[in-house]
Amino acid sequence: MKSVRIIILAAGQGKRMYSSLPKVLHPLAGRPLLEHVITTANKVVPSSPPMVIYGYQGELLREKLKHCAVKWIEQKEQLGTAHALLQAIPEISEQEWILVLYGDVPLISAQTLLRLIDTTPKNSIGMITAHLYHPSGYGRIKRDQQHHVIGIIEDKDTVDDEHMITEINPGIYLFPAQHLKQWLPLIANRNAQSEYYLTDIIAWAVRENIAISTLEPAMVEEILGVNDRMQLVHLERFYQRQMAEKLMQEGVTIMDPSRVDIRGDVSVGKDVTIDINVILEGKVVIAKNCIIGPHTILRDVELGQGVEIKAHSIIEGATVASHCVIGPFARIRSGSILASHVHVGNFVELKNAIVDEKAKINHLSYIGDSELGKRVNIGAGTITCNYDGIKKHKTIIGDDAFIGSGSQLVAPITIGKGAILGAGSTVVKDTPPHQLTLTHRLEQRSKAKKEK
Ligand code: UD1
Ligand code: CA
Repeated sequence: MKSVRIIILAAGQGKRMYSSLPKVLHPLAGRPLLEHVITTANKVVPSSPPMVIYGYQGELLREKLKHCAVKWIEQKEQLGTAHALLQAIPEISEQEWILVLYGDVPLISAQTLLRLIDTTPKNSIGMITAHLYHPSGYGRIKRDQQHHVIGIIEDKDTVDDEHMITEINPGIYLFPAQHLKQWLPLIANRNAQSEYYLTDIIAWAVRENIAISTLEPAMVEEILGVNDRMQLVHLERFYQRQMAEKLMQEGVTIMDPSRVDIRGDVSVGKDVTIDINVILEGKVVIAKNCIIGPHTILRDVELGQGVEIKAHSIIEGATVASHCVIGPFARIRSGSILASHVHVGNFVELKNAIVDEKAKINHLSYIGDSELGKRVNIGAGTITCNYDGIKKHKTIIGDDAFIGSGSQLVAPITIGKGAILGAGSTVVKDTPPHQLTLTHRLEQRSKAKKEK
């Protein structure tokens, strides 16, 4: 077993993004590019956190990724990939191996990296290569007659027909630390970009008769780098397609895999149907037999089985138990917990609402900071007035209560079990159970219309 340390290079600015955000913080599937690489690094070498070489907007980088286990190493000036790696060298002992990854190559897979570690013979260098139809921008792999790697030539430094070589260097290498420690300080910056190129290591190795073994990734997208926004969106769509295919293989119907976006950790049960333009974000758990209607956003949500979410609904930070029917046009906000068979209809907003079994809130209502009992029926246009301008207050509605349409419940307030509130009531005091409560009712009068 090789003892491997992972170093992720991420100090560059990413000029071709034309962005004030460092390139490696641009999101792919809702998470920074660099976070994808860190997650993969943790899978490949779970025993020690990867070292991340950072520079450009370092404070922001560390802040945005503070939830990741990482050893941060600063590169004060970005003088090239060899110089970047040099910053981590004091942390590494001679017997170890160094696996180099890039913060802007987000989809490299743990399987490919483990294969690289397994297949690289002792005392040699392992690297990944790939054949691209459009190799421009990448360093090219130079081989001799026997097909041995003899060097890497940077795109900007190619001469004659070297730019025609289609085998490229994705920049992912496995080095015995001992050689790297020896050669890295000796690399010079005599090239088109006046940078210290890590790729020069390969020429050193060839000179010193160190073998270089190469392998290709299972899918070429694994090694594609993000230098501009076109490349970013290309990888985003590839990733989304893969996620959709994975769900379909697990028994989920996706009406159009090119119109669903998964930006987090998602688990979906069998026979769930996901209609078009659905976004699943954060941690989303959907049990079997649910129907997710079109144009719906679910963020940090758990759905029990057989839930139906109708079109244009937004649910976040909520738990929805089995057989609830939500929407169309419903908004359920954080802290809401719905028991089974609850109905929430159109233009209803729930916030921090605990709703018991079979309750119905079907039209045009705001229910905030509330607890609703079993089978409560909320009439159209009901508002819980939970905020007095300073503090939030709670509304409690007992089992089987019936709230007439157009009512306002001024919290803190408790509506007794089985109580009925007449339509258009504004209640400011608790109402007793099993009684009809009416407020503010003016006598109704009608007059004849004046003739014009
Ligand atoms: C590099 C390779 C090239 C390869 C390509 C693959 C070199 C000299 N060239 O070129 O052969 O085809 O990657 O994508 O290595 N970085 C630092 N500090 C620096 C410079 C770069 O941390 O001083 C980081 C960047 O943030 C980036 C990575 O290293 O994550 C690659 O740097 P970049 O400048 O994009 O290298 P390329 O020109 O793409
Ligand atoms: Ca690059």
